[in-house]
Amino acid sequence: MNIKIAPSILSADFGKLNEEIASVESYVDLLHVDVMDGQFVPNITLGAPVVRCIETKLPLDLHLMIEHPENFIEDFVKAATEHGRSPKDVSITVHQEACKHLHRVVQLIKSFGVKAAVSINPGTPLEMIRDVLDDVDMVLIMSVNPGFGGQKFIEHALQKIELLREIKPELDIEVDGGINAETGKRCVEAGANILVAGSYIFGAKDRKLAIEALRK
Ligand code: DX5
Ligand code: ZN
Repeated sequence: MNIKIAPSILSADFGKLNEEIASVESYVDLLHVDVMDGQFVPNITLGAPVVRCIETKLPLDLHLMIEHPENFIEDFVKAATEHGRSPKDVSITVHQEACKHLHRVVQLIKSFGVKAAVSINPGTPLEMIRDVLDDVDMVLIMSVNPGFGGQKFIEHALQKIELLREIKPELDIEVDGGINAETGKRCVEAGANILVAGSYIFGAKDRKLAIEALRK
């Protein structure tokens, strides 16, 4: 499978967000946008008004770490598609742990024509999303507890990726948290095909080189 790189803007300088995005745009495949509400995770980042201001041709990969995501899906779809981006170039990821009716939320996301994805935290077994695996376009395996950039990779994520790849040979499997050239390689070997990296890319002296190293 082709490996895709998704820089997480959480580690970018928000004061010059579009310049930061432009600095990596031509070397990557998707733009990973971390939305946090201070409830589901102990940190607050950004909402739909900021998504609306993002200027890039890259597909948007919206990672919603929020409670009651169903109340905000439409806002995020509108914000992400307003400037002419096709809904097909937008994915919305919700957390299993934040959805009482996961199947319903996945269908809601799909009803807008965007890609639907589901994520699980390090403490959540794969079993919890097994019954929606045929409905989603992507699964995001968290390899840190969500909330902050720059945390250490949790090894157990590799087993989940392997197991998921066995069950779903064609599914997009994304991994997020503590990804660098070394952990990224191991995730790809385990079966992941989309690597999210925040601090590793935006903290690098040479961002292009860091991204190239993730593809090796
Ligand atoms: C963590 C976020 C990640 C974060 C990753 O809750 O979902 O996307 O930005 O940051 P790094 O790559 O620094 O671990
Ligand atoms: Zn993320």
